[in-house]
Amino acid sequence: MLGSLLLGASRLPLVRRAVSGVPLTRKVVDRFVAGETPQDAVEAIRHLAAAGLAVSVDHLGEETKDAAAAAQTARAYATLLSPLGELGLGDRAEVSVKLSAVGQALGADGDKIALENARQICEAARACGANVTLDMEDHTTVDSTLETLRALREDFPSVGVAVQSYLFRSEADCRDLAYRGSRVRLVKGAYAEPASVAHQHKTEVDRAYVRCLRVLMSGAGYPMVATHDDRLISITETLADRFGRSPGDYEYQMLYGIRTDRQQALAGAGHVMRVYIPYGDDWYGYFMRRLAERPANIAFFLRALGGK
Ligand code: FDA
Repeated sequence: MLGSLLLGASRLPLVRRAVSGVPLTRKVVDRFVAGETPQDAVEAIRHLAAAGLAVSVDHLGEETKDAAAAAQTARAYATLLSPLGELGLGDRAEVSVKLSAVGQALGADGDKIALENARQICEAARACGANVTLDMEDHTTVDSTLETLRALREDFPSVGVAVQSYLFRSEADCRDLAYRGSRVRLVKGAYAEPASVAHQHKTEVDRAYVRCLRVLMSGAGYPMVATHDDRLISITETLADRFGRSPGDYEYQMLYGIRTDRQQALAGAGHVMRVYIPYGDDWYGYFMRRLAERPANIAFFLRALGGK
């Protein structure tokens, strides 16, 4: 409830200015964001890779309303991918892309522009052996994102996509996507969605996650289980046994700065554990979603503002 209110309020320009303008905000943001520059991101990648973790890097930004900014985001990925390639991580390195950051929200030509920019990112990723996964944003973008995925996969067959269990449609989407070579990142979902399209209660979202997970784990694709939820991780292990999957036939993913001990434990147990690393100066939307996910994070933020 508090989370939905916060997500709703976070779209108001006044709230954005208030949160971004508090000098201490940056200190709290650093808990979830690797820094502002590609060098900051590479430093975080190097550190995590040395600890046996795989990575997926997100250049922060979303809902771009300007074609030049969309093209600039595609160039920012290329700038990141060049030093990333030098680390020689192969497919243990991935980039995550929000299509709305590369043009999807630009009206009638938006899908075309986003596809073109995403193609450039895929080219740069291929040159250094890295994969690309499309993030999933609010429910109005799902059809367009899946259509762009289909188009990209014709030339770049390893491109993956996130699916959000809170949407009613997602179990069917998982069925469509559970084919050989398909990479699907299953998440609960982080946007404020109406009751007409999405489950509103945590138990329902969790149950839907399990249904989607079963479809993906029993299918022919590569499931990427993106959650910090121990119960879901344990259900994943049960399903892996049932459907004959070994570590490496599926992977776990978590967000930078969240449950780092659990990340290490899963990697230590032989799993591919991929950490989603956001970097860049457009951190507001990402940061507000992390606050909304957990009341304790809001308390942490307020304590920092109070200087405690
Ligand atoms: P849940 O929120 O129930 O949390 C389970 C436990 O994890 C909590 O009890 C707490 O211990 C810990 N935890 C979770 N969130 C925390 C936080 N913010 N701070 C501290 N502890 C926290 N969403 C989306 O809509 N589109 C997308 O493309 C993506 N992409 C994505 C990639 C990756 C790699 C991950 C891990 C997540 C996403 N998400 C996402 C976000 C996702 O939808 C979801 O909001 C968060 O992962 C939180 O949900 P959990 O599954 O962790 O469960």
